[in-house]
Amino acid sequence: MKRVAVVGTGYVGLVSGAGISDFGHQVICADIDTDKIERLLQGEIPIYEPGLKEIVDRNVAAGRLLFTHDVPAAIRQSEVIFIAVGTPQGDNGDADLTAVFAVAETIGKNLNGVKTICTKSTVPIGTGKKICTILEKFNADHHPFYYVSNPEFLREGSAVKDFMHPDRVVVGASAPEAYAVLRDVYRPLYINETPLVETNVETAETIKYASNAFLALKISYINEMANLCETVGADVHVVAKTMGSDGRISPKFLHPGPGFGGSCFPKDTRALLGIARAHGLPFRTIEAAVEANEGQKQRMAAKLEQLVGDTLQGKTIGILGLAFKPQTDDVRESAAIPMIRFLERKGATIRAYDPVANESMRCHFPQVIYCERWEDAVRDTDAVVILTDWNEFRGMDLQKMRQLVRHPRLLDTRNILSMKELAALGFAYDNVGRGIRP
Ligand code: UDX
Repeated sequence: MKRVAVVGTGYVGLVSGAGISDFGHQVICADIDTDKIERLLQGEIPIYEPGLKEIVDRNVAAGRLLFTHDVPAAIRQSEVIFIAVGTPQGDNGDADLTAVFAVAETIGKNLNGVKTICTKSTVPIGTGKKICTILEKFNADHHPFYYVSNPEFLREGSAVKDFMHPDRVVVGASAPEAYAVLRDVYRPLYINETPLVETNVETAETIKYASNAFLALKISYINEMANLCETVGADVHVVAKTMGSDGRISPKFLHPGPGFGGSCFPKDTRALLGIARAHGLPFRTIEAAVEANEGQKQRMAAKLEQLVGDTLQGKTIGILGLAFKPQTDDVRESAAIPMIRFLERKGATIRAYDPVANESMRCHFPQVIYCERWEDAVRDTDAVVILTDWNEFRGMDLQKMRQLVRHPRLLDTRNILSMKELAALGFAYDNVGRGIRP
């Protein structure tokens, strides 16, 4: 059993802290945000993440999971410390490392024995070295420490599952002792034969960017393929499925849509471009993926305008789905954001519904009419656009929708509805790469 501190209680920190305590370790999650810690102490989970409350409650009840806003105390009492604070995109597009470096300073000042410091936050390649320099600078009593890069591969909405059943765990370090500590931390996975990739810090840092940027590239690829399908009369679903049946390609992350969003892909692709640029290297494929993604989001707005076939001024549009993907209330870089901006600029009235993300969007766009049910969001609309592939939307009663809308027009940017059914009900529709009905 290890004594572990996790600094940062965002979705990565909280999921990791809860998961590590579930492995049987004694974990203290620390955050300088006292409000967040108060809520956690009262049993409230500040983010929407399926399964997280259960695993937190279980380990809190077992006395293995604690919360504190006293970060220095959490560090002093722990042998393994995870840095899991945010690395938002800074003004110049690069990751903002202020929080990571501040935590490194606090850790350096509170070293009081041999400790292993692991970075989970996504940080540019080469940050590990900078963190070690800070740790050493503030380590007045020269306590020994090991440094590890241990990137996360958690998808929002299935983060708990991803943490408990990862495809691999990446441990970047320079000391064999550090690998041994992490093998202990991840022992239940290790004995279950989850591959533990032991490598150096720079390789671990690179793996994270290489993986996310590749997935982003795959999505942009299928989105551009979908656009081609529209022009030549092909069905992108059959194309993607058949491509994916080739084991070298795999069918995953080949779903066309309104462009990728979220807290990782947009930020990580831009950061990777920044890293390549800083080293004087071109990264044309990722540049193209980013550009294609921005184009895809704009293309959805153009599609909607075309579907309405008239000025959007004074029209009412129903938006179904605000989160960047289902099972999350996160709206960061969501395709709904440029769509709402476009519609507002054009003078349309927006009615919107998301099963969990209404509140997250309200602070960005207070003038949108947020509805509690999809039926209310589509009522008396001139067109409806689906932007998130929530299961709830797959099961909508389209006949009912037909009766509620003013004009039966539907843009399905996630390709989740039956074109046959829409056509039978008299909807004019469009989607991504499957064919339109004017
Ligand atoms: C991602 C990575 O998957 C995860 O490993 C990483 O550590 C964090 O970033 P996340 O951002 O939570 O996870 O969501 P993900 O499921 O990867 O989806 C990202 C975006 O791509 C979403 O907007 C989603 O709608 C879009 N997407 C995904 C597609 O448009 N098509 C696909 O086939 C898959």
